[in-house]
Amino acid sequence: MGRPTDSNATTDESLTVRDNRTGKTYTVPYRIKDNTVSAAAFKAIAAPLRPEERVENETPKGLRVSDKGFLNTAVIQSQITYIDGDAGILRYRGYPIEQLALHSTHLETAYLLIYGTLPSEKQLRQFDNEVMSHSYVHADAENFFRSFRYDAHPMAILTSAFAYLGSYYGEANPSLQGQKLFTNGDRSSLANMDRQIFRIIGKATTLAAMAYRVRQGREFVIPPAGLSYTGQFLYQMDHLGQENYKPSPVLEKALDVLFLLHADHELNASCTTVLQTGSSLVDPYSAIAAGCASLYGPLHGGANEAVIRMLISIGSPGNVPAFLESVKRREKVLSGFGHRVYKTSDPRSFIIRKTADEVFKVTGKDELMETAMALHDAAIKDEYFVKRQLAPNVDFWSGLIYRAMGFPLDFFPVLFAVPRVVGWLAHWRQMMLQEGGVKIWRPRQVYVGSAKRDYVPIGNRPVVRGLKVEPLPVPHSGISKRTELAEFTGKSKL
Ligand SMILES: CC(C)(COP(=O)(O)OP(=O)(O)OC[C@H]1O[C@@H](n2cnc3c(N)ncnc32)[C@H](O)[C@@H]1OP(=O)(O)O)[C@@H](O)C(=O)NCCC(=O)NCCS
Repeated sequence: MGRPTDSNATTDESLTVRDNRTGKTYTVPYRIKDNTVSAAAFKAIAAPLRPEERVENETPKGLRVSDKGFLNTAVIQSQITYIDGDAGILRYRGYPIEQLALHSTHLETAYLLIYGTLPSEKQLRQFDNEVMSHSYVHADAENFFRSFRYDAHPMAILTSAFAYLGSYYGEANPSLQGQKLFTNGDRSSLANMDRQIFRIIGKATTLAAMAYRVRQGREFVIPPAGLSYTGQFLYQMDHLGQENYKPSPVLEKALDVLFLLHADHELNASCTTVLQTGSSLVDPYSAIAAGCASLYGPLHGGANEAVIRMLISIGSPGNVPAFLESVKRREKVLSGFGHRVYKTSDPRSFIIRKTADEVFKVTGKDELMETAMALHDAAIKDEYFVKRQLAPNVDFWSGLIYRAMGFPLDFFPVLFAVPRVVGWLAHWRQMMLQEGGVKIWRPRQVYVGSAKRDYVPIGNRPVVRGLKVEPLPVPHSGISKRTELAEFTGKSKL
């Protein structure tokens, strides 16, 4: 949109728009509320179809609002998390993340995010007990985990595991129990929702630990009693039969801080995916599985893994300038820098930096730390990154901590997904209980494809050729050199 043309400000909370195609002026019928204007209101702005215009533009049916990548579209009202990206502020339910990281725990913060207030001692004890007593999974789950190939990515396992888990709980499935199962807001509906929340948070660590152990070729362990949320997670991954095994309190605490920092981040890609999926009223396990799939991508939860791969590829501090030049030539991406929302600094990155120091005191410094520091120091001073407001994000440091703790690279996104189920559930619960019920999320598109055309019988069609418009011949991945050299019927069709 262009610059404002005049400054006749009034106290009227409305928006007046002139459509220069028709010369008509419209006042958007809904008032501007919370500095937001309804996109649906723009449908009233219609114009006749110009002779050269495509029918598919649907111009007489009203103006559409385009927002590729959701840069400025609010899809829900939320009371959960507030981010001011310019000021580098993150608050859960009004509490600054710095205060929570210093004084709270992951499970207390989970209570806060989901139910809206900090719990009393009794409420927290009850919540802890409920979550921890839901950490067991059905014995058959072992078969499920064993069915993956030895080198399956743990995020593929975790994503599938949440969907699998849902198959056990018909009581949580609105397709079976009725559409109002979670939206009723009465006592039994709320209790049912809480049970699923306890289960999903309680079992998230167990599923993640099972994904870890299956890769290591280890037997599974029963979730231990008497340990904290992160303590029992570490135990479930690492215990190999030692007597009185207790995870390092430093690592247990550091992981708890990391979990708390990752618990929510308002409508990022994965949370939006959970809500979009949940808007069809599917069961929460399926919605969480969808969230995991979204988080798995390298632009989101996969970034901490990408940071380490990038640091390994840089090799040493001396190679940093050349690497930054290749980023500027757009041959490479500086993983762990940049954020859709934070444009000056990511407040979580300062807390993580401190946590890294605590961890390195007991684990020893990661060998990549020097390269990371050199890269960080050079990038924050470089005009290219300054101009684009690219600051280090949470993933720049978290990967180094996970590496120092000895986690395999591909497990890093799992360590992000496990705490993030809390945020996903908080948003899912909020949406189920929102005033006016749940409306299915169905965005619009701008159709730029072919206009109507008639089916042509196969013998009469012109052959359309070219990259991207026809499938490419690809070798069958199961065919070895030996098979290529062998003789068999139908070989020429391979
Ligand atoms: C997070 C991210 C996806 C945000 O994307 P976005 O809001 O769409 O930002 P844009 O892609 O519009 O970036 C704006 C500019 O900065 C550049 N840019 C953004 N992130 C960059 C990065 N990590 N390295 C190099 N250049 C980057 C873009 O190329 C673009 O440059 P241009 O204006 O000259 O075309 C993006 O910054 C990124 O890919 N970061 C690396 C992955 C990462 O760390 N993700 C974790 C996020 S917590």
